Amino acid sequence: MSYATIAGDRIRYEVHGDGAPVVFLHGFPLSGRLWRHCIEPLRKRRRLIIPDVRGLGESDGHAFATMSRYADDVADLLNVLGETEPVVVVGLSMGGYIAFEFMRRHADRVRGLVLADTRANADPPQKAEERRQQAARVLAEGTRVVVDTMMPALFGPAASESLKEEWRGIMNASPPEGVAAALKAMADRPDSTPTLATIRVPTLVIVGDQDTLTPPEVSRAMHQALPDSTLVIVPGSGHMLPVEKPEEFNHHLAAFLDRLRQSD
Ligand code: MLT
Repeated sequence: MSYATIAGDRIRYEVHGDGAPVVFLHGFPLSGRLWRHCIEPLRKRRRLIIPDVRGLGESDGHAFATMSRYADDVADLLNVLGETEPVVVVGLSMGGYIAFEFMRRHADRVRGLVLADTRANADPPQKAEERRQQAARVLAEGTRVVVDTMMPALFGPAASESLKEEWRGIMNASPPEGVAAALKAMADRPDSTPTLATIRVPTLVIVGDQDTLTPPEVSRAMHQALPDSTLVIVPGSGHMLPVEKPEEFNHHLAAFLDRLRQSD
């Protein structure tokens, strides 16, 4: 476990392995632990860079949380690590929103993209307003407010109670200030739908077939709008694909990374 000082704040990250760089961006209100099953299978041939997003997990810096700051944090972390090679960015849900912003701000640093259980559209006005109200409640009552609301929708029916309880604990440990800041950052994020046609790097769009938060039809529409993408729908998983179906997720991710290497 390591920490970098980025824009004056302490950001937690892990680096594993050696080789072509891959950056993993977790969803809301999760942490880098989302990617723990990816480490062993991939570390032999890749350099895996896994931050906790600003204000979440064990990273500080909620006061400056915006989608653009989240994206610049990734670029700044790559600079701290001396990583000059273009990276593959893997983003799940809110991590995908950050990945879109990273594409707009740092496209020259991207070799490929993995959009897992995410969406390109911005929040409709009513949803954005709900998020702002929820942010106020989280600050007043704690992170539990948002975790209790999200839990029933996060996992597919086959997920074990122990997996769900573990993640309830991880999410509840996220500081309310960071959770509220992320809710506002998501409410304010721009529509990334027009960005899709501009993404020239190969992209893997992957989603659990039982994901109700970012359902398969949303992934299908992104796939159709992206110039160079592959769509994979994984049976038997909800929104938390990398921990619900880790073997399947890793299989498709590794195949995508191998195809990228072969075309280099
Ligand atoms: C996530 O998993 O990051 C969230 O479901 C994203 C969202 O609430 O839009």
